[in-house]
Amino acid sequence: MADLTRHDFPEGFKWGIATSAAQIEGAAFEDGKGAEIWDIFARTPGKTFRGETPDVACDYYHKYPEQLRMMKELGFNSHRFSFSWARVMPDGTGRINQKGVDFYKRVIDEMLELGLTPNATLYHWDLPQELEYRGGFLNRDFAGWFTEYAEFMFRQFGDVIPLWATFNEPIATYVGYALGAFAPGRKLEKYGREANHNLLLAHGSVVKCFRSLFGEKRPELDLSRPNIGIVVDVWHHHPARPDDERDCAIAELENEKAYRSYLNPIFKGGYTGALLKYMADNDCMPDIRPGDFELIRQPLDFFGLNCYNRVVDSAEPQKIRETVEFAGGNYMDNGAEFYPKAIYDALFNVTKNWGVNVPVFITENGTYNCEEAIVTDAGGRERVHDVTRIRYLKGFIEWLKKAIDEGIDVRGYYVWSLLDNYEWPAASSMRFGLVHCDFGAEKYVLKDSALFMQKFLE
Ligand code: BGC
Repeated sequence: MADLTRHDFPEGFKWGIATSAAQIEGAAFEDGKGAEIWDIFARTPGKTFRGETPDVACDYYHKYPEQLRMMKELGFNSHRFSFSWARVMPDGTGRINQKGVDFYKRVIDEMLELGLTPNATLYHWDLPQELEYRGGFLNRDFAGWFTEYAEFMFRQFGDVIPLWATFNEPIATYVGYALGAFAPGRKLEKYGREANHNLLLAHGSVVKCFRSLFGEKRPELDLSRPNIGIVVDVWHHHPARPDDERDCAIAELENEKAYRSYLNPIFKGGYTGALLKYMADNDCMPDIRPGDFELIRQPLDFFGLNCYNRVVDSAEPQKIRETVEFAGGNYMDNGAEFYPKAIYDALFNVTKNWGVNVPVFITENGTYNCEEAIVTDAGGRERVHDVTRIRYLKGFIEWLKKAIDEGIDVRGYYVWSLLDNYEWPAASSMRFGLVHCDFGAEKYVLKDSALFMQKFLE
């Protein structure tokens, strides 16, 4: 295929950079910000790489003008970011921290000035610690807390932000309450399912609040007005051997437990029989009350799809790689499978099978730890030759184009991310940036993938 450029995509398409507050802002205890669960989790021995914390990260709190300018110079026209709830409401409810609000005012003004369309997420994994002390997502009051915070943000910034998402990747909350691998580090399947049900209630409650402020859903997505959606990640599970019943059963259950457990209630109004059976059999049924699904199933304006890869399952996991390679698949140096068709499959899957009937934004796509060494070129300039990241982005963008050509309504694509940032438990050990950056460092080195995107966006 000839090299694509942005001109091969629909008019008005958004090309953006995605980030999240805890991963880039730093200033974790500055200007009145309250602690959030990752500030605490990262301080628990053994939870993050070398015990690294999000205290400094990319120091976006101080360096956002330069970082936003870099997005603009690379040719992007939108920026997906998240608000730190604890920076705005240090206790999670009640008291407002005006300095936090002012910070976001400055950031949004700067984005508008540069022509970067703001795409805001209310919650990207950083629950105020004060709310965790009150039970966090396990408390059914969570929906009320989240709605209080969201309403405040809508009143502050509703008119200047066209794209609002309630949550980024609900599954992270499951990982934090059921598996213990993410903050707050609780570890019981029942907690995970309960937390996710309360998250869905909070999503529905916030969308209702949004409608009461900005009016009912319009027939067409209109970026001159505020719109609301949610961001879900789809890592579709495939059986390694499609003719092996055990492999198929594993993949099917994993899909039910993951992305479908959010899409079904949000777009279809309930959990599937298969998931209900799993929760009943495994003693992890959440507290579901009459009216819950009516609340959760609110009409949305758009759907945010995060897509990184697929997952291949087998009853004999040691054979997965062999099976994939036998079928013509291949792996990147970082050990992940290179399967750019994942984005095409996911777009068809969510729109055809799981009720997503609104325009889609690819809200995240990117890869980590390609060739990350800094080298000096003949002209004395520092460079990072990350050919694997270029191949990855190019592959995903080609399959995205194919899905659009075949009729899927996609309105934007966001790369994760501008800079190497705080990659949760992996902290500094996983680099996702188009631009090399060490926590808090002044020095930014453009990777070849940044130049590739710049050329693509020219
Ligand atoms: C998350 C980001 C994360 C990225 C790369 C996504 O699941 O939304 O916060 O950094 O993946 O792992």
